[in-house]
Amino acid sequence: MTPHPFLAELFSLEGRTAVVTGGSSGIGRAIATALARAGASTVVVARTEAALADTVDALAAQGCRAGWVSADLSTRDGVRAAAEEAAAVFGEPDILVNAAGINLRPPMGEIDDAVWDATMAVNLEAPYLLGQRFGPGMAARGFGRIIHISSQQAHRAFVQSGAYGVSKGALESLARSQAEAWSPRGVTCNALVPGIVLTPLNERLAADPEKVAALAARTMIGRNGLAEDFAGAAVFLASRASGYVTGQAIFVDGGLSVH
Ligand SMILES: NC(=O)c1ccc[n+]([C@@H]2O[C@H](COP(=O)([O-])OP(=O)(O)OC[C@H]3O[C@@H](n4cnc5c(N)ncnc54)[C@H](OP(=O)(O)O)[C@@H]3O)[C@@H](O)[C@H]2O)c1
Repeated sequence: MTPHPFLAELFSLEGRTAVVTGGSSGIGRAIATALARAGASTVVVARTEAALADTVDALAAQGCRAGWVSADLSTRDGVRAAAEEAAAVFGEPDILVNAAGINLRPPMGEIDDAVWDATMAVNLEAPYLLGQRFGPGMAARGFGRIIHISSQQAHRAFVQSGAYGVSKGALESLARSQAEAWSPRGVTCNALVPGIVLTPLNERLAADPEKVAALAARTMIGRNGLAEDFAGAAVFLASRASGYVTGQAIFVDGGLSVH
């Protein structure tokens, strides 16, 4: 079915290239799928090859153009190598989604250097370095979209926010700094803020039905999030439609944050 021309003009990603870190699981995989189905040639980046290959196979089966790069984003060299490999698949990206993230959850008093460094490396430094690598090129070409996946814990502390909450608060600041730098040349930079989404990141929580139900009750919609809930917001932020939206944190949380 051909999309309505007005909708295509606003939302089609035909001819665009996207790189999605963490695109092999959970929210990142749902976003990679949405961008690819909207027409973007999409490269997913994470460590585990089997999950990456499975994601790309599923996209190819839907007629999408997709590729993968296996890389560890917890070191600067790893991020830099990943960026070069990702750009080699379909060319320099028009859209960068930073969804790779870790939540190690020790209480504040028990955070050691290793937890702090790993959290900041994956959740904050990798998005920063990928932005430094791809943002200037996007600006030179006059179009770009940078989308970070933040957290409620960027805004309030709960369930041991620790280093994770700090990294996500800084990630939203990074979006604003990038927006200030590159928006005048067509590169918008925003964050999506999930509520509670039952993905592998929350495995331990998913095993406790009472907690899951209590968290669902804290939303206005009455359920926890699904990875697929991010498809529409991601396509919007990646498309021409969001050209005047920049430096923002957009909550996709079923009303959790305002309940
Ligand atoms: N689920 C929630 O409720 C929730 C709430 C708020 C925010 N978020 C954020 O949403 C994003 C996605 O989370 P999710 O719930 O979808 O988690 P997930 O299913 O665990 O996916 C995390 C992804 O990041 C990749 N990754 C982790 N460490 C990596 C590393 N060192 N190098 C490269 N890739 C790495 C993982 O692949 P490999 O392990 O194979 O590398 C995987 O693809 C994260 O930034 C998270 O903080 C999630």
